[in-house]
Amino acid sequence: MRVVLGVGGGIAAYKAALLLRLFTEGGASVRVVPTESALRFVGEPTWAALSGQAVATDVWSDVHEVPHVRIGREADLVVVAPATADLLGRAAHGLADDLLTNVLLTARCPVLLAPAMHTEMWQHPAVVANAALLRERGVHVLEPDSGRLTGADTGPGRLPEPERIHAAALALLRGADGGGAGDGSSAPAATTPVCDLEGRHVVVSAGGTREPLDPVRFLGNASSGRQGAALAARALARGARVTYVRAHTDVPDPAGAHVVPVSTALQLRDAVLTAARGGGGADAVVMAAAVADFRPAAPAETKIKKSDGPHDGPDDGPGLDLRLVRNPDVLAGLVAERRSGGLPAGTVLVGFAAETGDETGSVIEHGRRKARRKGADLLVVNEVGGGRAFGTADNTVVIIGADGTERAVGPAPKERIADAVWDAVAMRVPGSQPVHPRGDL
Ligand code: CTP
Repeated sequence: MRVVLGVGGGIAAYKAALLLRLFTEGGASVRVVPTESALRFVGEPTWAALSGQAVATDVWSDVHEVPHVRIGREADLVVVAPATADLLGRAAHGLADDLLTNVLLTARCPVLLAPAMHTEMWQHPAVVANAALLRERGVHVLEPDSGRLTGADTGPGRLPEPERIHAAALALLRGADGGGAGDGSSAPAATTPVCDLEGRHVVVSAGGTREPLDPVRFLGNASSGRQGAALAARALARGARVTYVRAHTDVPDPAGAHVVPVSTALQLRDAVLTAARGGGGADAVVMAAAVADFRPAAPAETKIKKSDGPHDGPDDGPGLDLRLVRNPDVLAGLVAERRSGGLPAGTVLVGFAAETGDETGSVIEHGRRKARRKGADLLVVNEVGGGRAFGTADNTVVIIGADGTERAVGPAPKERIADAVWDAVAMRVPGSQPVHPRGDL
């Protein structure tokens, strides 16, 4: 994938170096095209060293290769971060007085602009009109974050974190794949609402907890954490800020998530509650973690020895008795907290239920009962046992809504299951639009 990273002349240019790393670590070839004033903030050697490619700001270098046309034409994606007020103005009005604005005129791929400037500038009618004009033409203009600006002041205008820009860029590309943007037109892809969770904060718990028996042993479970990781990755791709409360998993953490590593159910409970309550709260909490229902009542401080068991007797004779105590039910705790006003009423709560059918009911019957018992907005029910669900790439689920809706999804890769879950969440978060309102899974 060939990415052009345009860098405007703002203090946030330093964050573009991190964005560049995210693209190159993902295997992209990145050509950095800074403006002349961007180089006052971060110098040419930094861009050249990090990208491994030549860096120019004007159209007079390597003229024989016609870079002002070639770079834009060959790009699969153009991302500009930070996009200053000046750059937005020049882009909106088709000016071409440096290499970057030439690239913007010649590119036929998706274009993502990440504005950053002071609040007064971002809210000035001229800038508002320029951003609107660019959007009308199919350019994807991210909303800046709200927060601390260059000085002591705060407000909207802050460059979104590199991870969010990266995720939005990847989502835009995926939209382009599905939207037929290979036909030379950037408009259909860029107007696809691929970032329906943009500006949202979601908490995803993943993996299996471990409850210590002694310093080296634990009670654990077979969760690989794949479904939770896929949920976090897809939420990031759809523009969300993701807190990823990760117990023990077999898979890498999704790039761009805020990772809170935990081990036991109690640690997981504390981390999930803190993330759901803090910093303006969460729009959704998805409990994909396999949380142990019980823990040893008194974990040993030193390693349990064979001699701690019965001294004589056959090898498979009576062993050691363990006493277990109940762990809190984290999901039920979230539901109770929301009811009592400790969490915003609009927080969407999602549980997963790993079920096996038995003489008292089928998988879905157990799921329906659990959905009523747990009181979450959505319960994602899947059948486990016989090699199903745990550690596999695919999954088959039924998403049960507290409103009585049921949607069967799969067999499908866990990423597609994750998207179906976020579709259902997005419908319940006020103000969001589902990206995949389709029943084709
Ligand atoms: N869960 C939780 N806290 C626990 C146990 C489970 O928050 N102590 C969450 C899981 O993350 C999952 C949902 O509850 O989202 C259902 O988990 P599951 O193990 O299927 O249900 P349990 O309530 O433990 O019921 P049971 O094991 O009796 O079927």
